[in-house]
Amino acid sequence: MPKRSRLALIGSNGMLASMIRRVAPPQYKIAPFDLPGFDLTDQNQVLRTLDELRPEVIVNCAAYTDVDGCETREDVATRVNGEGVRYLAEAAQNVGATLMHISTDYVFDGANTEPYVEDDPTGPRSAYGRSKLAGEQALIKSELERFFLVRTSWLYGPGGKNWFIREMPG
Ligand SMILES: NC(=O)c1ccc[n+]([C@@H]2O[C@H](COP(=O)([O-])OP(=O)(O)OC[C@H]3O[C@@H](n4cnc5c(N)ncnc54)[C@H](OP(=O)(O)O)[C@@H]3O)[C@@H](O)[C@H]2O)c1
Repeated sequence: MPKRSRLALIGSNGMLASMIRRVAPPQYKIAPFDLPGFDLTDQNQVLRTLDELRPEVIVNCAAYTDVDGCETREDVATRVNGEGVRYLAEAAQNVGATLMHISTDYVFDGANTEPYVEDDPTGPRSAYGRSKLAGEQALIKSELERFFLVRTSWLYGPGGKNWFIREMPG
């Protein structure tokens, strides 16, 4: 059997990560990390944990995603969504991993009448958007060579706080 790649899945209990765990191809050996055992805002823990695991790939699905809550807890949001990403970039650089990070259209001001493209100017209008932009900037400014920065606008799926899909019983 070919060697499996180690994939560190950060925020592994969340909606997107739960689906990644379900559908990830078998060549990836997933190591899940989430609160309370793993705290992305703890730089030492992030560096130590990933140094021990030495993953080939890190996928960051962890975030402070309570958009309204971010308005009153912007400091917490910035630590998770901003500084946490910097710690992951540093950890990925240390072990030579590729980092995939998920961001959001909230980094834009939403005023465009045309679809946004990658290099459109950002201009977040919410604390959530500012914290996610801080994460993007940390990643771009890092020395990490191999990373993917994915901006998505709306995720939905079973288990999440959304009104599109509900898991059918049985
Ligand atoms: N959902 C959407 O519609 C949407 C749209 C655009 C972009 N995104 C982005 O897509 C990504 C995945 O979103 P999602 O909806 O799957 O998120 P989610 O369901 O809220 O999952 C996020 C996970 O991160 C964990 N987490 C929070 N703080 C942490 C910390 N300090 N250390 C470690 N783990 C922590 C959460 O744990 P707790 O539950 O215990 O806090 C949760 O398990 C996020 O980056 C989000 O910003 C989402």
